[in-house]
Amino acid sequence: VPSVDVAGLLAALDGVVDGTEAVDERAHALQSGALALANGEDDALITAALLHDIARAPHVAARYPELSHERAGAAFLFPAFGARVAWLVGAHVVAKLYLLETDPAYIEHLSPESRASALVQGRSTASTRAYANHPWWEDALRLRRYDDGAKDPDLGDLPERDLIRIASALAARAPASGGER
Ligand SMILES: [Fe+2]
Repeated sequence: VPSVDVAGLLAALDGVVDGTEAVDERAHALQSGALALANGEDDALITAALLHDIARAPHVAARYPELSHERAGAAFLFPAFGARVAWLVGAHVVAKLYLLETDPAYIEHLSPESRASALVQGRSTASTRAYANHPWWEDALRLRRYDDGAKDPDLGDLPERDLIRIASALAARAPASGGER
């Protein structure tokens, strides 16, 4: 298994801004990962929170022109980080649609950009229900909360080195085929 350059992946998000969001994708990734870390999540969930929008990086998006960003991210991350990271990343838009439908207060936590994209992403469907029966679904909902909370333009010091170390170590213990970890 080739070693994974997590710092390089984060660097590819530097200066990439999704629509009207207040922070760039690198800051968003670090804030999201930091929330997962602070909440005592396992290494795979922390890594998924950190890299959930990796398909916003131009070189990743270019590899999967036919896929939505969450599916592209899952496909890109699976070989290096395994099934749990990939599944959680693949679920992060479905989790938003599910929360919009089931939690009346949830929309208040969404940025304007994220509210707008929900209109395009659609309503929860049969495939949402398939996700919701998965044993990792509650994890996906927590990741979504970290994602939504990770858009603060005024956040200062973040545990960047810890996050990179955790994600790199997870990749280093990966079985070659990316099994469950
Ligand atoms: Fe995000």
